[in-house]
Amino acid sequence: MRKNIVAGNWKMNKNVIDAQQLMFQLLEYKKNNATNCDVYIAPPSLYLMMAKDLYENNEIGVFAQDMSEHESGAYTGEISADMLKSIEADGAIIGHSERRQYHGETDSHCNRKVKLALDKDLTPIYCNGETLEQRKSGQHFEIVKNQTEVALFTLSAEEIKKVVIAYEPVWAIGTGETATPEQAQEIHAHIRSLIANKYGQEVADEISILYGGSVKPDNAKEIFSQPDIDGGLIGGAALKIDDFAKIIEGFNS
Ligand code: PGA
Repeated sequence: MRKNIVAGNWKMNKNVIDAQQLMFQLLEYKKNNATNCDVYIAPPSLYLMMAKDLYENNEIGVFAQDMSEHESGAYTGEISADMLKSIEADGAIIGHSERRQYHGETDSHCNRKVKLALDKDLTPIYCNGETLEQRKSGQHFEIVKNQTEVALFTLSAEEIKKVVIAYEPVWAIGTGETATPEQAQEIHAHIRSLIANKYGQEVADEISILYGGSVKPDNAKEIFSQPDIDGGLIGGAALKIDDFAKIIEGFNS
């Protein structure tokens, strides 16, 4: 059975004191509340080791927000899969739309990163999703199809089963404008059927597909109740413990 996951992408927010405080609050919350989903955080890379030290029993998954497509060497500013593995990080977000928009990342980069992460036994959270113009012109199914194929379809069935996919329509990220549960569900079902056509239904049914884009405490439950939505990748609302906790509780009946 595929996992339900709520993952917090902290982006470039919080100084070390505030980051540590939120990590502690989340640990306390996890200890005191039964959750019906796995909980991950992706803090700035500077704080990954702190998170790993704090979550010594792996209560909360710890993910980088990106990783290099290269193994090692002269790549100033980059973080390698081996480095992440050496601090026992659980994985990395790959291909977030902000990496695509501000750092020119393409699905070919994502393909190499996803493959490298898997080779190093890290879980990639691969992000895709269309822009507003692409949705307005009715291209969203085609765009997401291309993204999924280029980034993931060189993987073996065993490999793709270990990937988490996050569908994040660019127009919904940080804008307060969420895809309706129906709009999200139809793209999630589309992604799952693409995988089923290529790898078989059994493989497709094992892959967690998260929705991201203005998930908030008041819409999480409805979004998560859709059959092909297995959780969320949360930006702004992951920065406050009360909001993030309420989103996690979107999986409570
Ligand atoms: P948001 O960000 O929840 O602030 O819209 C989501 C994301 O970028 O992963």
